[in-house]
Amino acid sequence: MSTEADPSKHIRIVNTFMKRRTHMNKNAEQALTDPEFAEYLVNNSCGDGNLNDIHDLRILFTDTSNGSEAPLTLEIGFGLGDSFIEMAAAEPTRNFVGIEVHEPGIGKCAYMAGTQNLTNVKIINGDAIQLLKQLPENHIDRIQLYFPDPWQKKRHYKRRFVSPERMAILTRSLKRGGWFHTATDWEHYAFWMVDVLDNIAGLSNQAGNGNFTPRPDFRPMTKFERRGLERGHGVWDLIYTKD
Ligand SMILES: C[S@@+](CC[C@H](N)C(=O)[O-])C[C@H]1O[C@@H](n2cnc3c(N)ncnc32)[C@H](O)[C@@H]1O
Repeated sequence: MSTEADPSKHIRIVNTFMKRRTHMNKNAEQALTDPEFAEYLVNNSCGDGNLNDIHDLRILFTDTSNGSEAPLTLEIGFGLGDSFIEMAAAEPTRNFVGIEVHEPGIGKCAYMAGTQNLTNVKIINGDAIQLLKQLPENHIDRIQLYFPDPWQKKRHYKRRFVSPERMAILTRSLKRGGWFHTATDWEHYAFWMVDVLDNIAGLSNQAGNGNFTPRPDFRPMTKFERRGLERGHGVWDLIYTKD
């Protein structure tokens, strides 16, 4: 089929991220290259965020002490990974997969997992939306998305991770009874989120439609949350369960 005749060739993908070029510190670089950390980096050999071979997150833990049937959390956009690693260390019998596109963050996160000898962590380099589309239905117990890029300008709203289309994709991969937890420090995005999520079929707002959840104790403060608080922003948490 020629390019002209195939309409799918003309669809422009709108990403929820902009790849930032920031300094890679020595520890992060070591984790991305030293075989000692390879067990954490699911697709590091590709180095370019190639997700084509990842169709199941549970099998990543088959040879670990928890095994593949343990409760599974996926964190999308963990940044530098500090709060993600803190949560994984606090719940050693739960498996944690983190996905990011920012390589210095991926390296730093793997470094922290390795130096703490965590056996319940795997890290994926790539676009969470592509990954979610490739996973089975009813696969993940908890998905967390903390302080996603707020995309403040109106012309950028289409990049917001919380959108009706992206949330339908995410809900499909959640197990029934599983939950989705998100938080933001950007007021406009907070009300946008509650509006989008209250209208996704199959999700129920734990605080009741239109309401936010008090910040739960188990969510450590993240880097972006701290930055937002220093600038005088509020923080809004939302937890939804899949019916
Ligand atoms: C504002 S930062 C927040 C980082 C961290 N959660 C925190 O609170 O400190 C958002 C992160 O999400 C990542 N991100 C955005 N869209 C993504 C996607 N589709 N897949 C994977 N990571 C994504 C970005 O690279 C960025 O590091």
